[in-house]
Amino acid sequence: MNAPTPAESLARPARVVPPPMAMLAELTHRCPLKCPYCSNPLELVRRSEELSTEDWARVLRQAAAMGVLHVHFSGGEPAARRDLEDLVGIAREVDLYTNLITSGVGLTETRVKELSARGLDHVQLSVQGTDAAIADKVGGYKGGFEQKMRVAEWVAAEGLPLTVNAVMHRANLHKVGETIDLAVRLGARRIEIANTQIHGWAVKNRAALVPTRAMVDACTATVMEARERLKGVLVIDYVPPDHHSVYPKACMGGWGKVGLNVEPDGKVLPCHAAATIPHLSFENVRERDLAWIWNESAAFNAYRGDDWMPEACRSCERKTVDFGGCRCQAMAYAGDPNAMDPMCSKSPLRAMIHDLVEAESVDAHPPEYVYRSM
Ligand code: FES
Repeated sequence: MNAPTPAESLARPARVVPPPMAMLAELTHRCPLKCPYCSNPLELVRRSEELSTEDWARVLRQAAAMGVLHVHFSGGEPAARRDLEDLVGIAREVDLYTNLITSGVGLTETRVKELSARGLDHVQLSVQGTDAAIADKVGGYKGGFEQKMRVAEWVAAEGLPLTVNAVMHRANLHKVGETIDLAVRLGARRIEIANTQIHGWAVKNRAALVPTRAMVDACTATVMEARERLKGVLVIDYVPPDHHSVYPKACMGGWGKVGLNVEPDGKVLPCHAAATIPHLSFENVRERDLAWIWNESAAFNAYRGDDWMPEACRSCERKTVDFGGCRCQAMAYAGDPNAMDPMCSKSPLRAMIHDLVEAESVDAHPPEYVYRSM
């Protein structure tokens, strides 16, 4: 089932693709939180369609064999899977570095101890705010903030390195200083302060999520000051809003370059939003070997290199820095995944998007969230 067919082997071109460094293992789309910026696909995978423990074990072994170094167990909420501890154990057996990306809901002290005993290397805990009033409102889950604080204590007690993952937007950007302080108090070694990307579900909440220019400028200044002050204590990764940047981000480090995502039902995607690109179809680990999918599948090769790029990108000196930016953003705003990333200042759409988002950001009465639920 996993080996290429003879016809595939014969047809195989002499293509050398370096292996991915990381695999995002999206164990489930089930999640107790209802975040208005959820980055999962609009069409969620049901529990009955999820890969089994045996399927995931095979995928983890294939990942290690092809040269993957890190596996990020994610979701949804990966703790919703009762076999999470087993999967961490299997990943460690094959020498994968294991990271758990979690909201903390569904973990208990016993489970954190067991995960640590099975060899979990690192925990990435999301926080939606610095107190229950903001955090539980954004996450749409009462009691979530207190649970996260308990999980951070259990993680620290096990001596596991912790990263705090803070998604920032209009409701919490003014609290970025407190968010950094919270990460220090929780004993985190790193914090990722990422302004919400307006993709997928977040598009429904764009007017409620986009911060004003003044908020972003204040946030950037706070982050720069804290970076200096907390050298040696806390590493601060910072992602400003796309429409305030001059150049697009190297989304996913480049399409099919450093990472792949395995969806709960086994589909393998180059990025979390790739399914929004209608002309692509995605191979499944139930039928194909992971290395074949990475090296040979049409979806992974669609935006490698620069043949696909519009002329302005192909002749741009930054094409080896941002690899043409984000294809899903081009799809979302330009309706064409081959178009220039509309967040690039050279894109003809950039000024229009900037003005639209800026106008929404200063609306004194932003709309209520449209929460995400299964
Ligand atoms: Fe798909 Fe950026 S999210 S390429």
